Amino acid sequence: MELPAPLRQGVERILEKVPLPVLKQAAKTLSDRYRAELRDGRLHMAEEMAVKAYLAARLPATYAAVRTSLDALADARPDFQPKSLLDVGAGPGTVLWATTDLWPDLEAAVLLEASAAVRKVGQSLAEGTIAARTEWLAGDATINLADLRPAELVTAAYVLDEITPASLPKLIGRLWQLTGDTLLIVEPGTPAGWQRILAARGQLIEAGAHVIAPCPHDAPCPLAQPDWCHFSRRVARSRLHRLTKDADVPWEDEKFIYIAAARAPIVPPQARVIAPPKSASGRVTLKLCRSDGSAGEQLFSRREGETYKAARKLDWGDALT
Ligand SMILES: C[S@@+](CC[C@H](N)C(=O)[O-])C[C@H]1O[C@@H](n2cnc3c(N)ncnc32)[C@H](O)[C@@H]1O
Repeated sequence: MELPAPLRQGVERILEKVPLPVLKQAAKTLSDRYRAELRDGRLHMAEEMAVKAYLAARLPATYAAVRTSLDALADARPDFQPKSLLDVGAGPGTVLWATTDLWPDLEAAVLLEASAAVRKVGQSLAEGTIAARTEWLAGDATINLADLRPAELVTAAYVLDEITPASLPKLIGRLWQLTGDTLLIVEPGTPAGWQRILAARGQLIEAGAHVIAPCPHDAPCPLAQPDWCHFSRRVARSRLHRLTKDADVPWEDEKFIYIAAARAPIVPPQARVIAPPKSASGRVTLKLCRSDGSAGEQLFSRREGETYKAARKLDWGDALT
């Protein structure tokens, strides 16, 4: 997956005059902070150079994870065409770009972002390109959501890991109150990211939400540590992206986990594929999370005819309908 062309061009314009050694150092500092899940009271992207490093090294991957999660949401709810978006921890506008790519008729978006440096870049990328009316708000998502108006689609992508764990239940509760239709939360596909999504999932179900993706049920998650639920999306690396990370290959695999919770239930798919399929001649083994709340591997063989043909086409993250 690649960034939409106008976003890619906007990012290239912002990065064209940045000396590579400076960008590489800023990307390394940013990556170290993210890896350590450092919460030292400072925003990871308080400085302009950290924002530029994010554009070069992280935006393509977070965009791909968000866009893929939105695809799963849209598959689960083909009738859903949100006109309004509220995105918290908006960063450079990743969710805004992914949402308008999928739903070009989006009319209005409110983007809450704590860092002034990030807001400035996000605003300049979107200006004159994104058709929806956009309003960028300064504020802390853990304290400044009181006066906001609900939106049909509410989102928080790669944000929970930057917030003190004790503040998360109140934040999730408020995001759900602000959700007119569907709430989407995306996190890194690590065991810790999965734990945060599991906690949010439990809280949302308790509050009356219906999980519409990825889980095909509202029952307790059937996976147990050291296993964890996550998905993967291949992301194209630009030349600058490769140089910034000293990487050899022109792609990377972004691991992510998400939850989409809605006000109304859906008819769930039979199952979702929760690991890379294992194929052999005339056989494919899929690890499935099933609508009855169970999970496990299932072998499909050529003898099963159409069922096998359908199973063979499925990839990690796909729904089995
Ligand atoms: C990893 S970035 C993700 C940006 C974007 N959502 C994406 O997926 O690319 C997290 C963003 O959340 C912002 N953020 C962190 N804590 C916040 C808070 N308490 N309130 C508002 N924004 C916050 C950060 O400044 C940063 O821009």
